[in-house]
Amino acid sequence: MIIDTIELKNYRSYSEKRMELSPKTNVFWGNNAQGKTNILEAVYLSAIGRSFRTRKDSELVKKGQEFASVTVEASLKDRKKRVNIVLSENGKKQVKINDIKQQKLSALFGNILIVLFSPETLNFVKGDPGERRKNFDLLISQLNPGYIYVLQEYYKILEQKNNLLKTKREHLPSLEADIWDEKLAMANIRIKKIREENIQKISPLFQDYHLQMSEKKEDVQLVYKTQIPDREEECLALIKSKREKDIFRGFTSVGIHRDDYLMSINEMPLGNFGSQGQIRTAVLALKLAEKDLVFQEKGEMPVLLLDDVMSELDRERREFLYEKLKNCQVLITCTDELIGKEVKSFYIEKEV
Ligand SMILES: Nc1ncnc2c1ncn2[C@@H]1O[C@H](COP(=O)(O)OP(=O)(O)O)[C@@H](O)[C@H]1O
Ligand SMILES: [Mg+2]
Repeated sequence: MIIDTIELKNYRSYSEKRMELSPKTNVFWGNNAQGKTNILEAVYLSAIGRSFRTRKDSELVKKGQEFASVTVEASLKDRKKRVNIVLSENGKKQVKINDIKQQKLSALFGNILIVLFSPETLNFVKGDPGERRKNFDLLISQLNPGYIYVLQEYYKILEQKNNLLKTKREHLPSLEADIWDEKLAMANIRIKKIREENIQKISPLFQDYHLQMSEKKEDVQLVYKTQIPDREEECLALIKSKREKDIFRGFTSVGIHRDDYLMSINEMPLGNFGSQGQIRTAVLALKLAEKDLVFQEKGEMPVLLLDDVMSELDRERREFLYEKLKNCQVLITCTDELIGKEVKSFYIEKEV
């Protein structure tokens, strides 16, 4: 898919800006703090419903203004999509898809398809499991329209169960806990299955890209780690077996909220043993694999958002990336102008 236009109103540093993009490479270049990343962030918002830099939506509204609006128009194989998000300074969000108001923010997923590659992404190998879960949850949410709802439901049930564990420490009514545990077991199994299926699909793509890039032809693995067994009865039994300890701890100690994704090279965990260069190669391979998986599953090429990564990659990896993104629309930020065929550049300078 191709993003044709981006329109910002009172978004971050912009009062009003409309950009017509090239279907190939678009470079947003200029000095620091001029508003380059703000543009990629706005596109990300139109795809995922929130920023990749902050959890506070109010920060996205231009200082002194009450509302911000982002509109992204895209061409798909056989139709057009127009996504509009209005954020108010008090934290409310309203979403329209093709001018139709959406009740749920999650309706956004799967419309504007993106893969983000930023310096933060490079950190995610060493970061805590939550960051890796977030990465794959956002990927899967774009592929599988029902996933985000099951996930949200799971976290709601988990919260209720945890509240029960906290408030009724002394005498936990087991009937009430049983009900939550049954719901948890069901949701755990559904989420585990979807995560597992997607990791099985992305793994060979990841390994293949990695093999193309690594000189020593190292063998990488991406493994989904979960405590959840395959069958619902076993899952329920496992949750119940932890109940006594969980009452003591005040939270649910087993479930997909504890899942992790492990990357390793020649059986050694990359986060602990990988060099900076190995980590970069692996993350690059993963992002390219994500792009292919989206295309494979949705029949549309996602738009690649590359925030400040060119300076983080050496020439060889940079060229590999360009080569592999030849068939994609790419939005890049950098400090120097990139010149080339099929490159549209936007010089970004903050309004005064
Ligand atoms: N809510 C906001 N209102 C006004 N200006 C903002 C807001 N949020 C960020 N900015 C401005 O945006 C600029 C940073 O934009 P960013 O896209 O991160 O820059 P860069 O070009 O370095 O990527 C800063 O000048 C900052 O003051
Ligand atoms: Mg930036």
